[in-house]
Amino acid sequence: MSSSTPNLAERPPHVPSECVVDFDYFNPPGIERGEDVFTALGHLHEGPDIVWTPRNGGHWIATRAEDMRWIRSEPLLFSRKESLVPAGMMHTLMPPTNIDPPYHARFRAVMNPFFTPAAVGRMEHRIRDITIELIEGFRPKGECDFVEQFARIMPVVVFLDMLGLPSERRGQFLEWGRGYINAPDNESKDRAAAAIAEFLTGVLDERDASPRGDLFSAIAAWRTNPRFQSEDEVIGMAMVSFLAGLDTVTGLLNFTAWHLAEHPEAQLRLAEGPEIVPRAAEEYIRRHGLSNSGRLITEDVTRKGVALKAGEILLVVDALCSMDERVCPDARAVDFDRQDGITDTFGNGVHRCVGEHLARLEMRIFLEEWTRRIPEFRIDPARPPVSYSGVVIGMSRLDLRWDI
Ligand code: HEM
Repeated sequence: MSSSTPNLAERPPHVPSECVVDFDYFNPPGIERGEDVFTALGHLHEGPDIVWTPRNGGHWIATRAEDMRWIRSEPLLFSRKESLVPAGMMHTLMPPTNIDPPYHARFRAVMNPFFTPAAVGRMEHRIRDITIELIEGFRPKGECDFVEQFARIMPVVVFLDMLGLPSERRGQFLEWGRGYINAPDNESKDRAAAAIAEFLTGVLDERDASPRGDLFSAIAAWRTNPRFQSEDEVIGMAMVSFLAGLDTVTGLLNFTAWHLAEHPEAQLRLAEGPEIVPRAAEEYIRRHGLSNSGRLITEDVTRKGVALKAGEILLVVDALCSMDERVCPDARAVDFDRQDGITDTFGNGVHRCVGEHLARLEMRIFLEEWTRRIPEFRIDPARPPVSYSGVVIGMSRLDLRWDI
């Protein structure tokens, strides 16, 4: 998705000129000269800790892990009512993502039981089967379009499986999910959301009629909870369950495969010592913060000498946590032996990712099955990788090859 506000916002008088950067997070400077998305976003570490850009309606950006952790620890001061930048982009109720405490907790209570390590652990066999089937589909060819043939498919098929829906519908789901997340404008976003909502409403109605004890049955049962306020809450929870794990898991798989393709020694280590897979998965997660999320500042507050005013918008760029040398030495390196890596990739505080254990499991299974089945692989030299920025950062091209 490209920047949706071509006009530059005027700098408010309280924003010091030394804090101003010309930064459009959909097209971070550097991407146009071929830099990868992390390198391009990382230039923000060359300036002040808190910066303001006139792009996308005009907003603040916190560039350091310590500030992002503080922002996430103050969910009332930094409301998620504007969780997409520019403000106004998020106009659908998506509980729990854009609900502030104390109401937020009631929606987490519906979803949490289905995403505990034990609950997602019960999906391990199915996720493994799906992963093996996808890999075996292209393994004999000696090459694959990793983005299209693996990373964009795996999380959708896992979700369809959670729903108990046939995987033949995955093309349709992929189209809707990507249409929603990458919509160039509000109208396209509304159209994609309407198609997803219509389909998911049908699933929720089925679960109402015959509950199965699964996530969608619990979401449907919210309709009979005394705290239920509107059908939008039910559809919103169903939508979030589908959308939140799509581009995020896809992005993580892509960036991981890219790193591995350029580091045969890491491939070999995983293949020869699969017991390090959980640590490797954790390190790939730490290194690849993916989400660019918004906050609405609800009260005037000063941080590091900068006055942030109520009503202003702030962007949290998780990739900058992953690359912050102040909290993690040599932060840009992937190091399976790292002892000091704390992950901010799933956020922190009340809005911390509900799907983190599922994402971890998908990563672990991917690393195990890929390194077990695919011999040493590399990037197709004729088609260099392409990464992009957006609400979730990701890759649009990653073509891999191996000898057969
Ligand atoms: C690599 C994969 C993933 C990454 C990097 C990721 C990242 C995040 C982050 C950073 C947040 C917090 C947002 C904020 O504070 O601004 C979040 C929240 C959330 N994630 Fe994930 N996520 C991933 C996978 C998933 C999966 C698989 C699901 C479930 C299907 C999921 C569901 C959610 C939900 C529902 C929230 C909102 C939680 C709340 O507001 O209380 N995520 N995720």
